[in-house]
Amino acid sequence: MATGIELMVAAALCLACPPMNHTLPEELILLDEFGSVVTDVPLDVHAENVGLDEETPMETLEVLRNKREKLRNMKAWINGRHLRIATLEDYPLSYTEVLENGTRVGHGVSFQIIEFLQEKFNFTYEVVVPQDNILGSKVDLDRSLIEMLNNSEVDIAAAFIPSLSEQRSFVFYSTTTLDEGEWIMVMRRPRESAGGSGLLAPFEFYVWILIFVSLLAVGPIIYMLIIVRNRLTGDTKQQPYSLGHCAWFVYGALMKQGSTLSPIADSTRLLFATWWIFITILTSFYTANLTAFLTLSKFTLPYNTVNDILTKNKHFVSMRGGAVEYAIRTTNESLYMLNRMILNNYAVFTETSNDTYNLQNYVERNGYVFVRDRPAINIMLYRDYLYRKSVSFNDEKVHCPFAMAKEPFLKKKRTFAYPIGSNLSELFDPELLNLVESGIIKHLSARELPSAEICPQDLGSTERQLRNGDLMMTYYIMLAGFVTSLVVFTTELLFRYINARHEANKWARHGIGRSPNGQSVKPSRWLRGLRRLHSGDKQLLGSSTHAQNVTPPPPYQSIFNHGGEHHWHQGGKGHGLVLGGNQNGGVRRMINGRDYIVFRNANGQSQLVPVRSPSAALFQYTYTE
Ligand SMILES: *[C@@H]1O[C@H](CO)[C@@H](O)[C@H](O)[C@H]1NC(C)=O
Ligand SMILES: *[C@@H]1O[C@H](CO)[C@@H](O)[C@H](O)[C@H]1NC(C)=O
Ligand SMILES: *[C@@H]1O[C@H](CO)[C@@H](O)[C@H](O)[C@H]1NC(C)=O
Ligand SMILES: *[C@@H]1O[C@H](CO)[C@@H](O)[C@H](O)[C@H]1NC(C)=O
Ligand SMILES: *[C@@H]1O[C@H](CO)[C@@H](O)[C@H](O)[C@H]1NC(C)=O
Ligand SMILES: *[C@@H]1O[C@H](CO)[C@@H](O)[C@H](O)[C@H]1NC(C)=O
Ligand SMILES: *[C@@H]1O[C@H](CO)[C@@H](O)[C@H](O)[C@H]1NC(C)=O
Repeated sequence: MATGIELMVAAALCLACPPMNHTLPEELILLDEFGSVVTDVPLDVHAENVGLDEETPMETLEVLRNKREKLRNMKAWINGRHLRIATLEDYPLSYTEVLENGTRVGHGVSFQIIEFLQEKFNFTYEVVVPQDNILGSKVDLDRSLIEMLNNSEVDIAAAFIPSLSEQRSFVFYSTTTLDEGEWIMVMRRPRESAGGSGLLAPFEFYVWILIFVSLLAVGPIIYMLIIVRNRLTGDTKQQPYSLGHCAWFVYGALMKQGSTLSPIADSTRLLFATWWIFITILTSFYTANLTAFLTLSKFTLPYNTVNDILTKNKHFVSMRGGAVEYAIRTTNESLYMLNRMILNNYAVFTETSNDTYNLQNYVERNGYVFVRDRPAINIMLYRDYLYRKSVSFNDEKVHCPFAMAKEPFLKKKRTFAYPIGSNLSELFDPELLNLVESGIIKHLSARELPSAEICPQDLGSTERQLRNGDLMMTYYIMLAGFVTSLVVFTTELLFRYINARHEANKWARHGIGRSPNGQSVKPSRWLRGLRRLHSGDKQLLGSSTHAQNVTPPPPYQSIFNHGGEHHWHQGGKGHGLVLGGNQNGGVRRMINGRDYIVFRNANGQSQLVPVRSPSAALFQYTYTE
């Protein structure tokens, strides 16, 4: 609304506007394409009259005209000239091919640029390559590209040459930056992200620690609170649970299992319910987070930055004579901190420029990290992908066995290079700038590639199935559980052995050997045998000798069997023996309402033996064997 009204007002006001003045100011100087002056200009014109004031830099009309003049001369000079162009094998930015008749022709982005310049400036050229496919540096000058430039064997080096500081003293880098080279790490795709820690992943380390601490602490706390409550209220209905019961309840609730404890007092119930609420929230968080982690987890590579390479001492490989090598070897360059990795043979510089070979030999076979610059690495992976897709079935994991780190290993500006003192730079650089600014160079570098990302870090399309490795933790937990129970069992045996002379109630005092109902249990039969075997040691343990002085009565059945045969041990016959009342030698009497057999001892005293069968059996069981 407002803008509409404003427009209408402006239109109304401009009814009085003077018509547009299309004639140019009088003193304006017009130059044509080649810098020659179109309009006849009086040479005594003052600077302020041609639109220049005092603040304008010294680029006065005269300078401008000289520049144009020079450019025109150079264009004339280069017209029809023959240039020698050096290059490097650096597919796809620059590479050469030798024809049958021995001529070397250049290809790649660099030569597309050269052809464009050739069209514009009408020169011819021949392509030469250094004997070794290396850039060269102060200590590595032999047979290098830099040497050819320094010796002015060539007029221009047409390749994407990283502008390294040391090389600046030998060559003149073009002032136009062709692109910013990014060297990327390629490595074998790890089988799974973030290692096999899947089941522990939902919580941080400290959360696990605190859960464990609360698991240990809450049992005793509940135990104490129940005792304190009973002391304060004098309530006897709510019997205090033993510490073991409380701890078992806490653990059972954590595992979402029940407990037989059913507290009566309200405060005790609240205590129990509080723990249940805590567990409910905790377990739902765990379940939800585990689901999210398994389905949505971010894919992470083991080596993402230069620092990872350095700290984990990872073997890596790069091109011999490339930017990475000089950036590492040269003092004060950006990667100089990796220098000691060369000394320790962790860094390898491969001579061959065949990327497919490097990828297969170093990365796939030996697990190295391969460092290569951006367009080359993209094309290399794309070709590998196409090849694998043609030979293998429909599985993206098989198609993409390599993964690229996102963070560049090294960044350097890349330009053409000229011998020092060459004047070609002045001629070519403005044209190159136009190409860069219009995005043509970027387009040419990525021309062979599809616009979709090839083999991204996270192969989102593949469904994540739980592998055995993910379940490793459960196996460990099982194993740990078995080992722990074995250890506890051994400890129980040990305690029983140590306390062997004590009676059952003494066992109970230690809390070991108590059944869940709080009753003491008898040691197993073979253990009791063991105890008898070692009865000689008992004195050494320094416990009370009271238990030893209690002499158990003779086996019950021995009373009835004068032959001393132990029928008791022969299965169920013993009961029949007792119930049958084989009463040789004794007289059955009723004393105080109970049946006894009265016998006479060898020494003439009479002895009473109860015969009511159940109590007799108990008597037998408790005091013998
Ligand atoms: C156009 O501008 C020039 C100089 O600024 C002036 O001399 C001329 O009269 C103007 N023409 C019209 C039609 O206003
Ligand atoms: C450019 O440099 C060459 C030598 O490198 C020289 O012969 C030529 O005259 C120079 N051209 C101009 C226009 O200065
Ligand atoms: C280009 O150079 C050739 C010689 O190499 C010459 O014959 C031809 O006239 C030149 N073309 C133009 C347009 O100057
Ligand atoms: C070599 O062959 C190419 C085409 O096949 C031709 O353009 C070139 O002039 C030949 N070079 C020589 C030196 O014969
Ligand atoms: C570079 O070339 C100059 C002369 O062209 C020469 O004096 C110098 O020694 C060369 N530098 C090296 C390192 O060879
Ligand atoms: C590296 O840098 C330091 C400080 O900038 C300088 O003193 C030293 O000479 C440099 N070393 C080399 C080899 O350039
Ligand atoms: C590169 O190496 C691969 C495997 O070693 C080979 O198949 C291919 O032909 C080589 N390419 C070139 C251009 O030599």
